[in-house]
Amino acid sequence: MEIKNKIKQLLKDKKTAAPRILVTGGTGYIGSHTVVELQQAGFEVFIVDNLSNSNIEVLNGIEKITGKMPVFENIDCTDYVTMDRFLSKHEGIQAIIHFAASKAVGESVEKPLLYYRNNVVSLINQLELMKVHKIKGIVFSSSCTVYGQPDVLPVDETAPRKTALSPYGNTKQICEDIITDTIRSSSELKSIILRYFNPIGAHPSAEIGELPNGVPNNLIPFVTQTAAGIREMLSVFGDDYNTPDGTCIRDYINVVDLAKAHVISVQRLLEDKSSENIEIFNLGTGRGLSVKEILTTFEKVNKVKVPHKIVPRREGDIEQVWANPTYANNVLGWEAKETVEDTLKSAWKWQKKLMKKQKNEGSCLS
Ligand code: UFG
Repeated sequence: MEIKNKIKQLLKDKKTAAPRILVTGGTGYIGSHTVVELQQAGFEVFIVDNLSNSNIEVLNGIEKITGKMPVFENIDCTDYVTMDRFLSKHEGIQAIIHFAASKAVGESVEKPLLYYRNNVVSLINQLELMKVHKIKGIVFSSSCTVYGQPDVLPVDETAPRKTALSPYGNTKQICEDIITDTIRSSSELKSIILRYFNPIGAHPSAEIGELPNGVPNNLIPFVTQTAAGIREMLSVFGDDYNTPDGTCIRDYINVVDLAKAHVISVQRLLEDKSSENIEIFNLGTGRGLSVKEILTTFEKVNKVKVPHKIVPRREGDIEQVWANPTYANNVLGWEAKETVEDTLKSAWKWQKKLMKKQKNEGSCLS
């Protein structure tokens, strides 16, 4: 009787085996938070990442939070042959969440070919491999950068895309077009394109978070490093914009909220919940905050000072952009839930954890 039950259980387990998801760039900032949410939702996760902008130790953080170490291989997604081998070895992957990409706007101006290779070639590889390995769906990381400075705010998905201001921004537009054309040409493939606004914060456990390489380009890691004394002073890029306090406005979204949207998207693809083979969603909070508002809130909730000065505008910055997330709210049943206060607390908690760790290891960040 006992053996019978065991077999029953085994068969049941086989039938309900966790869906396998490939996460490219899964040790990166948004990737790692998404892996956590996927594992917690019961998916079996396979990560490929070339660690060009992340650290292998992220895997330990993921294991600490979820109790499970995902499968990981150090692979560059532009390497078709190695990716093909990986997918042959790990049969049955049903969907890809494709994060692997370069993302520094300034660097993309200096090294455009690196960006076109890393971002465009790697996407083409994934789409070709999906056909070879019969993988049904792909969730793609796009950005609100495709809207440029929108004519109407908050911006929704029907807004026209504007000419990209950098090779990085251009790669996101090109990738969106490549996906659209590919999906239209094949009834077997499906895709969800997610246009992120400004992801910030860290996992509430502070086991994973953002790990910028060298001097951060983005606002929040620069803020946390300045509060920590690693950077002397934050430069606020311009206070003469046409906004209430003169500084730029963005839609800052909690990274865990953002990660959860990926889980919903992948479920939507696998369960064929949509009659459309390609869908595009804005992922934002619907609220715009200025650089000054972010600074004031960060200082208030964390009871810490952030020395800063106003400097001239940064070239290429959009004056103001925030999302209309209604389509994602209604169709995906997703919404950004975390407050900016809690999100900024999580960013500071993560920074303090990093400093403690570095102190113990006797290393230094700058
Ligand atoms: N800022 C500062 N000082 C800094 C860093 C940033 O004042 O040291 C300001 C910027 O001028 C901007 C705001 O803070 O007004 C946010 O800047 P980020 O660099 O954090 O974010 P961006 O909105 O410029 O860029 C982000 C991503 C890009 C993506 C873009 C989409 O980093 O990858 O959103 O609009 F393309």
